[in-house]
Amino acid sequence: IPVDPFDLVIFGGTGDLARRKVIPSIYRRFLAGQVPDGARLIGAARSDLDDDGFRDMIREAMDEFEPDTDRSRLDEFLALTCYIPVDARGDMGWETLKKVVRGDVISAFYFSVGPSLFGDLAEHLHAHEIIDGTSRVIVEKPFGHDLESAKALNAQLRAYFEERQIYRIDHYLGKETVQNLMAVRFANVLFEPLWNSNYVDHIQITVAETIGVEGRGGYYDASGAMRDMIQNHLMQLVCLIAMEPPNRFEADPVRDEKLKVIHALTQPEPHQVVRGQYEAGNGHASYREDVEDDRSRTESYVALRTTIDNWRWAGTPIYMRTGKRLSAKASEIAVYFKAPPHAVFEDEGARRQNVLTIRLQPNEGITLDVTIKEPGPGGMRLADVPLDMTFAEALEEGTEVPEAYERLIMDVMRGNQTLFMRGDEVEAAWAWADPIIASWTARGDMPKPYEPGTAGPSDADTLLRRDGRHWRSIGDIRKDAGR
Ligand code: BG6
Repeated sequence: IPVDPFDLVIFGGTGDLARRKVIPSIYRRFLAGQVPDGARLIGAARSDLDDDGFRDMIREAMDEFEPDTDRSRLDEFLALTCYIPVDARGDMGWETLKKVVRGDVISAFYFSVGPSLFGDLAEHLHAHEIIDGTSRVIVEKPFGHDLESAKALNAQLRAYFEERQIYRIDHYLGKETVQNLMAVRFANVLFEPLWNSNYVDHIQITVAETIGVEGRGGYYDASGAMRDMIQNHLMQLVCLIAMEPPNRFEADPVRDEKLKVIHALTQPEPHQVVRGQYEAGNGHASYREDVEDDRSRTESYVALRTTIDNWRWAGTPIYMRTGKRLSAKASEIAVYFKAPPHAVFEDEGARRQNVLTIRLQPNEGITLDVTIKEPGPGGMRLADVPLDMTFAEALEEGTEVPEAYERLIMDVMRGNQTLFMRGDEVEAAWAWADPIIASWTARGDMPKPYEPGTAGPSDADTLLRRDGRHWRSIGDIRKDAGR
């Protein structure tokens, strides 16, 4: 179903995110028939380009980032685009923008720029009367560096936009399997009765990457894995896994429940947090070489143990880990159920745990490890087998799994905020992360070195071993199954 006609202005329209994700995603929705003829995509940035120059830039971006995407309708799509040179901090371009943005269709403003420009952009849009109570604004992470800066950003946006007009993107919420987490939990009767500390032993959340800091050293070194990944992406995953069923799948009911989870997250003790930094090895430069600072103490890896202080989850540890330059790109959530209370069979395998693994990427799908009898006459020997549902196999061939940004941008046009973070959610997540980061600074904590291509520092294993548990091996869902 196509959305209503819209004007989407992309500030930072010549930047990396716009070229790599935002514009190609809108083109793919155009190919899918969701972008109406009355839609317009207006690039805005400081570069001195004209419409044709902007269109050439999009063609090049498609060559570079989307070599496999069908190009047959690109010219038609480009006819919907135009470009206006605009200076966020000066007067250039604003009057032209005012003339171009139509007053009688949905208007959305994508701030695909650093957060230091959010305030200036909002102010200019207001001063030039380009926005009204129906306009929408889209902002990207990093949404602040800590609680204080996040509050300041919220205040800058709220000076000119109501909360219902603000769309804060966490692209993990746009990932199909992340949304599937809610479908699995709330559209099946099977899991929810077991979804609590009576039956769940612990939960492991892993977001492992093989890439390093990839030319983003300046940003990354001032942030680290805690701010870059845990405070937002992994936090969102914890929320969806742990929240109470919302009464409806709508923006505020869902976000109210997520917020309660963040408020209930406990602070890990210092020994329950492991920081790591990759050294040189396996053909890769060290983190410090990558960020060109041979004394950097920023972490490229974090593992931690927390709990959720409420009735449902009392006593169930949540382990999270994320890092760069690890052995595989793999994001997954593993819910370990408790072993059966009594061993009926002599085989010690009878005390195995069921594990429900939700693979976010790659190879999206869900696996449930169950224990069965090993075939054969030799008595009751037990074995774990996976009940495996790989979405690519389970769904009809050719079913398209849209990219996170495709879903999210269309949701903005539909006026649906369910998959966007509310201001209080972002602030609560910082309120949880800030003291952890502050304690590192206070102690002068040094991240533990780890070799590229491994699972991270060995202290992360100790973190679980202390509790008598093991991490799953990264990127191999079958190995270790049920252990
Ligand atoms: C971004 C982080 O938000 O997410 C990056 O800033 C990280 O450091 C990326 O690489 C991971 O996203 P994805 O979709 O590849 O898992």
